[in-house]
Amino acid sequence: MFSIFKKKVLGDFSFLQTDLHNHILPGVDDGAKSINDSIELLQQMQQLGYKKIICTPHILGNIYPNNPTTILPALEKVKRVLNENNIAMQVEAAAEYMADENFVEAVEKKKPFLCFGEKKFILIEMSYLAPSPYLEQCVFQLILDGYQPVLAHPERYNYYHKQMNKYEQWKEKGCWLQLNALSLTGYYGKHVKQTAEKLLTAQLIDLLGTDLHHAQHMAALHYLCTTPYYKMLSQYPHFKNATI
Ligand SMILES: [Fe+2]
Repeated sequence: MFSIFKKKVLGDFSFLQTDLHNHILPGVDDGAKSINDSIELLQQMQQLGYKKIICTPHILGNIYPNNPTTILPALEKVKRVLNENNIAMQVEAAAEYMADENFVEAVEKKKPFLCFGEKKFILIEMSYLAPSPYLEQCVFQLILDGYQPVLAHPERYNYYHKQMNKYEQWKEKGCWLQLNALSLTGYYGKHVKQTAEKLLTAQLIDLLGTDLHHAQHMAALHYLCTTPYYKMLSQYPHFKNATI
């Protein structure tokens, strides 16, 4: 889909150091299917300049009913195989929580969440079909409970594309915004790409993630490094990935 032949690579993602949204852990969601897939993706992330990977498997109702007992053994397996193969990549695990009934119930009951970083970042996504009626109360409560909520790929929610004020409102409520790097390649369509550009121009984005699932995403990430959008990302002054 994205040919990198004859195109000049403009740089890598070492300016970020850390990726905090991906589906690299094996066999737990719609990302890497096997440990070999995981290791291949991690090696390529290393080539792209990343030093630390925070894996964020989906936690989504009965579709991906993950929890620490499914996620942490997958993390340990990846760490073991990296070690056996002398691949120096730091790997941690958190999750990508769907803002659904289960999530709001867990927030209300103050259950412990898989989070990352000193700020206790918690990555949350909404359905692509409709905004979550629960997100606002979850963000409010999570902040009170000492977490830093991060809304995953805000540019991918089509229902917000004509309401840029919604993004500002989430920021005002204390929620950080995480852009998917691939959105700028047009991978998710023209409107997502346009919204990604608008969010960056408005300086509303705090974190850049790959949301890497498979080799096709990886090819698109390499392609991104050959486009003018790479420059836009590498010169954006507000990404806080490196502080995690
Ligand atoms: Fe994701």
